[in-house]
Amino acid sequence: MTRRDFINQTSASYAGLLAWGLLQPAPASALKAAANGRRENGKPRTVVVLGAGLAGLTAAYELGKLGYDCTVLEARNRTGGRVWTVRGGTSETELGGTPQTCRFEEGHYFNGGAARIPHHHQLTLHYCRELGLPLQIFNGNNEAGFLYNDQPDSTGPLANRRLRIKEYHNDMRGYTAELLTKSLDQSALDQQLTKEDIEKLIDFLKNEGDLNTARLYKGTNRRGYKSNREPGAGQSPGELTDPFGLTDLLRSGFSQPVFYNVGDYIYEQQTTLLQPVGGMDAIPKAFEKKLAGKIQFNAPVTELRKTENGVRVVYQKNGKPTELSADFCVCTLPLPMLKNLDSDLSGAVKRAADFVPYIKTGKIGLQFKRRFWEEDDWIYGGISRTNMDINQIWYPSFGFQGSKGVLIGYYNFYGRAEAVGALPVAEREKLALEQGRKIHPQYATEFENSFSLAWHRIPYSGGGWATYDDAIRKKHYPALLEPDGNIYLAGEHTTYLTAWMAGAFTSARRAVEAITARVG
Ligand code: ALA
Repeated sequence: MTRRDFINQTSASYAGLLAWGLLQPAPASALKAAANGRRENGKPRTVVVLGAGLAGLTAAYELGKLGYDCTVLEARNRTGGRVWTVRGGTSETELGGTPQTCRFEEGHYFNGGAARIPHHHQLTLHYCRELGLPLQIFNGNNEAGFLYNDQPDSTGPLANRRLRIKEYHNDMRGYTAELLTKSLDQSALDQQLTKEDIEKLIDFLKNEGDLNTARLYKGTNRRGYKSNREPGAGQSPGELTDPFGLTDLLRSGFSQPVFYNVGDYIYEQQTTLLQPVGGMDAIPKAFEKKLAGKIQFNAPVTELRKTENGVRVVYQKNGKPTELSADFCVCTLPLPMLKNLDSDLSGAVKRAADFVPYIKTGKIGLQFKRRFWEEDDWIYGGISRTNMDINQIWYPSFGFQGSKGVLIGYYNFYGRAEAVGALPVAEREKLALEQGRKIHPQYATEFENSFSLAWHRIPYSGGGWATYDDAIRKKHYPALLEPDGNIYLAGEHTTYLTAWMAGAFTSARRAVEAITARVG
């Protein structure tokens, strides 16, 4: 029987296809861990897991399947850590801040932390599948979004005005294709390419830049039509917009990194991106259900000790110090929290906690009476970019054409996030509205309410995510990978997938594999 016969003649079950080598098993589902959680006397081995973010939840979930008895200690009154969906009723008080309670209408929300799943993050998708969570598209890349270069001192034609991403991209593609075509015509690359190769390259460039038959870029319908001049019925072929001038484009400032075409090019942000229906916190909530009775909330850890055969932690329970001993600890606390923990951790781990930097980053959700970005500007999901403090505006990828909507009015990093995050929440709202109004004048009449956050000021997080450069990675990362006595570290900071949920997942599984291998 050939493989083809096999497929044609049998029901070709998944298992059958796997057996014939016609399908690769999902690498995500292959946890290399023995079910050795029980001792010979039947008693389970115990694990205390610090933190009910995705890493902690996953470790407890997987260890539980293998017979271990886990207790998860969580400082907050919720699971998820930096996987946090903000909706009506959500409240938070930042360090040094005033209490905030979200007033979004039922059904509206934004993901304050993790907000998109790349299609190649197999492990994240594996857990969504295993937990039965429906996914929807997260539209990150939208050519209908805007670019806005705020240059108070400039009168340049492309400064201080919004333009569509599609206009900028297609003009730049057109001009660069035209220029390269010309240089090919002048035999500039003769040494590297044959005549036939050059013809093929020119064909590619003609398509890439949408050049005319004379191989010139004179504009393209890829950049859209004039307002109220879209193609239509009868004698309405549509009226094209004129391209911007190349010199104007080059001097526009749009080559600054803040405007970079991330969505098209960066591996993690290429289509397709996904998100759970109803909010990213569907993931921690689903784990929480699986771990019923295993999670202690409002239980911040104050001490982490090594004992002769295991670990001992002290945590707050109803405001009183309480002790818990276990055979192992999986510690998923973000490094800014580990830094302040009274512990027996090794000097190398403590130094890593001191020196691995975490990014400052913030978001604001703005509720509007009307989805003007859809109704007036034809934007369904995606991101607008600007060099103002707000940096990015994210349009929701769900609830299209509904009556109201929440968009993310800023998503910023480093200095911008620090400056905006330092403001009281009312000032942040004012800034988001003032700057956002330059791109969307409708802000002025349609705004209802907001909720903002600065991760570096959020208790029990203390930052957005670990940011390694090569030197820090070399110096401090290795210490985070080794078990420290019976303490195993996990969390995105212990991976090369920092800033992603996939990092939390893969780190948890690494810890589970290490513990089970050690038990033998
Ligand atoms: N993973 C983070 C994001 O998607 C950094 O913005």
